[in-house]
Amino acid sequence: MIVLGIESSCDECAAAIVEDGKTILSNIVATQIPFHREFSGVVPEIASRKHTEWIYGVVEEALSRAGKTPRDIDGVAATARPGLLGSLLVGLTFAKAFAWARRVPFIACDHILAHLYAARLLGKNGKNEKGGKNEKCGENEKNLPYPYIGLLVSGGHTIICRVDDFDSVEVLGTTIDDAVGEAFDKVAKHYGLAYPGGVYIDEAAKHGDDGVFAFPMPKLHKGAHLCDVSYSGLKTAVVNQLEQFRKKGRAGEINPCDIAASFQKTAVEILLRALLRASRGSGINTIVSGGGVAANSYLRSRLAQYAGLNCIFPPLELCGDNGAMVAGIAYQYFMRGDKSPFSATASARVKEFKRRYP
Ligand code: KG4
Ligand code: ZN
Repeated sequence: MIVLGIESSCDECAAAIVEDGKTILSNIVATQIPFHREFSGVVPEIASRKHTEWIYGVVEEALSRAGKTPRDIDGVAATARPGLLGSLLVGLTFAKAFAWARRVPFIACDHILAHLYAARLLGKNGKNEKGGKNEKCGENEKNLPYPYIGLLVSGGHTIICRVDDFDSVEVLGTTIDDAVGEAFDKVAKHYGLAYPGGVYIDEAAKHGDDGVFAFPMPKLHKGAHLCDVSYSGLKTAVVNQLEQFRKKGRAGEINPCDIAASFQKTAVEILLRALLRASRGSGINTIVSGGGVAANSYLRSRLAQYAGLNCIFPPLELCGDNGAMVAGIAYQYFMRGDKSPFSATASARVKEFKRRYP
């Protein structure tokens, strides 16, 4: 079955053609980053306008790279939640129109479930990615059996969950304040690194010393919060570090690479602590990651150091927002006979991914 997947929840205008929920025939991601850079963040109004301008061309390109025409498409999917409402509506409405015109099934997908599905897709080399030096990593590359612990780390979400099926997830822990990607972006912005900051912090940290600054870990030791994370305290501490040096007229003494390395080390330790607790508590030792921060090289290498864990990451090009993960998960719904009505609408938030505390 050939599925067209469309993703427009934030600032990437993306479409992909995927066969049987696994093999990527094309994957086009048109990034709007240059249009949002001067504002150091995504401007919703600009995002939805750009999606409107680009979506037709992006889908055309995805079809052409896959060597397909609209007649070859057996089903269409788009991200419907969560995300920026105006942006979501562009992709969703395009997908509905395509499905109606071609008389093929249409499904409205969840962005978080799609990110968690990304590692099940086969990358350029026909494999999903191993987590570094850990020999156990990638053991189940071709067919990841459920259940596993899902680690969704992006600009908008930080979720640790038990994944029992492509659409069945139990949230074990979340951030109680900022998302991890948001913390990367805010720290980078404060220290004058480029936007969006995650990838620049990852790079700068390779040239820095992570022992120069000691940043605090959040105190999440109580039962209900064992698998939760928090990033607002870390972010404030890293920002204050610069302010303290500035007040003493010594701002020039701070090496941003040392800040990047020290911040990144703590940010990743926070994730690891919660992940290990989730793994121990559930008795599940396979971790499958997804979302933009899953591209982080330090996170990958730290996770690889745990010999008892089987860590699976999506290929780098499938960590950030893309249409292939949407087409991939859509195939699973179609196989089950599910489809969405044309009245399906978009939602900015999804309450199922909020933690319920006892
Ligand atoms: O999944 P994504 O593309 O969009 C959302 O759904 O939010 O994630 C974007 C986030 C941004 O915060 C970006 O800075 C972060 O992923 N990111 C990274 C890296 N590459 C992207 N964070 C840390 N290290 C990276 N290499
Ligand atoms: Zn995303």
